[in-house]
Amino acid sequence: MRIAVLSETEGAETRVAATPEMVKKYKGLGADVAVQAGAGAKAGFPDAEFEAAGAVIAPSREDALRDADIVLKVRRPAEGELAGAKPGALVIAIMDPYGQEPALRSMAEAGVAAFAMELMPRITRAQVMDVLSSQANLAGYRAVIDASAEYGRAMPMMMTAAGTVPAARVFVMGAGVAGLQAIATARRLGAVVTATDVRPAAKEQVESLGGKFVAVEDEEFKQAETAGGYAKEMSAEYREKQAALVAAHIAKQDIVITTALIPGRPAPKLVTKAMVESMKPGSVIVDLAVERGGNCELSKPGKIATHNGVKIVGHLNVPGRLASTASSLYAKNLYAFVETLVDKESKTLSVKWDDELVKATCLTRDGAVVHTAFQPTA
Ligand code: NAI
Repeated sequence: MRIAVLSETEGAETRVAATPEMVKKYKGLGADVAVQAGAGAKAGFPDAEFEAAGAVIAPSREDALRDADIVLKVRRPAEGELAGAKPGALVIAIMDPYGQEPALRSMAEAGVAAFAMELMPRITRAQVMDVLSSQANLAGYRAVIDASAEYGRAMPMMMTAAGTVPAARVFVMGAGVAGLQAIATARRLGAVVTATDVRPAAKEQVESLGGKFVAVEDEEFKQAETAGGYAKEMSAEYREKQAALVAAHIAKQDIVITTALIPGRPAPKLVTKAMVESMKPGSVIVDLAVERGGNCELSKPGKIATHNGVKIVGHLNVPGRLASTASSLYAKNLYAFVETLVDKESKTLSVKWDDELVKATCLTRDGAVVHTAFQPTA
């Protein structure tokens, strides 16, 4: 059994799909591990550390891929990247599959079995494999660090001989994994934190972290959580009520962190241009939903935009701004999944194709796109 760890081809990607620590664990499963030269460099894992852990350093992508039974990546392989892969090889990554039918077809045509880690069901057994949580948690933390770096004032209240500095007011929109970590981080820095969400379960979680919950709590709100724990897209009527509430609240905030997402849909637009204009100059908005269209109307992907003195931070790949930590957690998520695909006695690959984790994540197999959510519609 051979595992390949490839370098990321997307320039902005800093993370790597395996760490030296996980290489040791894969060796323990009976696998040989080939790491493409330089794959961990941007995440602070030099080739020498992978080698010391027992990996072979492959000088090129082709060398790493050759005869690999499992290919590990952070992002979906680009067109042509899997050329030379063994037929039937398992390719495991964050595949970003929505709206990417041509890319899914090309992975099917490459003859590989592609797995999308972000489709892992959120059941107890798979918590350790939950890449959305492991990465969103870090993004929530980093959003507050980025906000505080852009904010020209202090976060905590300080009583000094030269006068009292007021605590920053931080408003977190969307209190899922990223939002809850943002609340916790902002509280640790001494900010006064409020938060909103459309799911009722979020209220208690926000309050348990010392934040104040602000939301339109009507009948629709009571039904807004899907069986999977995610938010539904809200009605126009709800959005109007929410916007009125937010408009009044946001004008008094110093920092706004937005994290609101709906699976498979564009991010809801929660912060309008008029709301930005109501904020004081020097205020900061960090839009963590920018890769999915953004929660703020004025966000620019990959840029820090300024409007009327308000900074709107739209960094891409925020977990990648903590490349080492994000890689370590992602690599552990991958290992936990791979472990379920291996027979520990015979130390060979043994995929149980009817296992619910496999069925939920497998996109392509035997030359076809097999996932029910990504079938051609015509
Ligand atoms: P997400 O990343 O899909 O969305 C972020 C947040 O935005 C969510 O809390 C969502 O309710 C909120 N949101 C969506 N539309 C909104 C709107 N119009 N206005 C305000 N907020 C809006 O969600 P995430 O972080 O993946 O968490 C979803 C749920 O899954 C949470 O309840 C979380 O606790 C749960 N979860 C369960 C796990 C498990 O293994 N059982 C693991 C991780 C999370």
